[in-house]
Amino acid sequence: MNKTIIVSNRLPLQISIEQDKLNVSPSVGGLATGMKSVHAEGNGVWVGWSGITDEELDASLKKEVNAKIEKEKCKAVGLTEEDLNDYYLGFSNRTLWPLFHYFLEYSEFENTQWEAYKRVNQKFAEVVLETIEEGDTVWVHDYQLLLLPQLIKDVRPDVTIGFFLHIPFPSYEIFRTFPWREEILTGMLGADLIGFHTYDYERHFLSSVKRILRLDVNFNEITYHDRIVKVDSFPMGIDYNKFHEAALTHNNPDTNISELQKRLDAHLNEGDDKKFILSIDRLDYTKGIPNRLKAFEHFLNTYPQYKEKVRLIMLAVPSRSNVPQYQRLKRETDELVGRINGEFSTVSWTPIWYFYRSLPFENLIDLYTSSDVALITPVRDGMNLVAKEYVATRTNLDGVLILSEMAGAAKEMNEAILINPNSFEDFATALDKALTMPLEEQNNRMKILQKRLKRYDVEKWAKEFLSTLEDTNQLQEIVV
Ligand code: UDP
Ligand code: G6P
Repeated sequence: MNKTIIVSNRLPLQISIEQDKLNVSPSVGGLATGMKSVHAEGNGVWVGWSGITDEELDASLKKEVNAKIEKEKCKAVGLTEEDLNDYYLGFSNRTLWPLFHYFLEYSEFENTQWEAYKRVNQKFAEVVLETIEEGDTVWVHDYQLLLLPQLIKDVRPDVTIGFFLHIPFPSYEIFRTFPWREEILTGMLGADLIGFHTYDYERHFLSSVKRILRLDVNFNEITYHDRIVKVDSFPMGIDYNKFHEAALTHNNPDTNISELQKRLDAHLNEGDDKKFILSIDRLDYTKGIPNRLKAFEHFLNTYPQYKEKVRLIMLAVPSRSNVPQYQRLKRETDELVGRINGEFSTVSWTPIWYFYRSLPFENLIDLYTSSDVALITPVRDGMNLVAKEYVATRTNLDGVLILSEMAGAAKEMNEAILINPNSFEDFATALDKALTMPLEEQNNRMKILQKRLKRYDVEKWAKEFLSTLEDTNQLQEIVV
């Protein structure tokens, strides 16, 4: 039977060695959580990095790791410590990630890291090529593997290849500053279908292709050598039922109550006017965390009536902590939380509860279902699935989502309160509006949001991408 080979830098499971034993944990981030449900359903295989470097593995450990990975229908690409430093922490996360998120001042353009990026993309190509069987489809994901489509197409022109970018594609004015711009574009054009979360990212990509490669672009089709490459937007959804049903079970009085939920309830039971404002993100400078904290301080000063009543719960998930910008962000966040809590706390109230860790799924549901407001305010974000997950868990149709205009998700979530994450005024007014919003208005907004998320869930998203990819075969026949 034909299969789909999913390829991404990270596998949905992460393996590490703790006290000489292998530890398996789920990967965080939108790509992994979203694609996991798609992968679980299908008959495909997922190719990616296991989380462990070659140096950490002796022959017997390697066997053990591979067994764990194969059990989950995955296949590992081995990376050395040098690969990890120069390709992952280096080119992927110190060059492409900041540049594509408009953090030009953070982008480093180092030749050794570029060489590593090419070398590791080639390593991925080798594993994919040995996995491909007649009739298979390859679906490559995200910015770590922009060269991979072409590397596969060069060897296997017969194979249908899709590529999806989970982060923004920046405007031409930003992209043109990138020293290896032609190579990256031609790498992506190895695919038959290139997908983005939003129409804007698609437009930016097409404009770069036209202006940098001077190729013919007809609406959303690019003529490249003897092929047609199709470009389209597919806003990624979530596994709506999984979140909605988990929230229904959670609210059932017979379900066991977690320790976290007991702590949350203790605060909420103090009075009807006690409320939680929730934010969940990887600790990443694109997520606008320091701004959010300063804006919360501004809010408490502007609307003092909320002191001792509302509490910001901020879950920051550790991410890329070997990259200097992330280390600085961690220090800045710790300091801001300390300063604001020091400024406002009373004997019975701390304005911010700050968790720096990742939480199991059940605890995420505790947080989503207990929070009256979700405050999701990235300064730049490809999509943002947390905003969608919050909505899916609001089974009583109450709760308000405050969402940054700069998140891809804002394009489909007009019923949220949309704000400019750089404006403290916007923050304060939106928080006041959310905390005083009549229940009926909350219900009306939630109903529309839920309907849309339910209809266009992650399964539908994947199906649409794959069926459009299949249709590209007909385009090629027309060209021939
Ligand atoms: N998430 C997680 N563990 C946590 C906190 C969050 O697995 O402790 C998940 C969350 O449910 C969501 C994903 O991480 O699916 C974050 O995706 P999003 O698109 O919001 O941002 P990204 O991290 O991809 O930039
Ligand atoms: C974002 C990216 C993913 C990445 C994830 C977690 O969602 O789009 O490609 O896997 O962040 O980041 P990490 O560097 O830990 O893989």
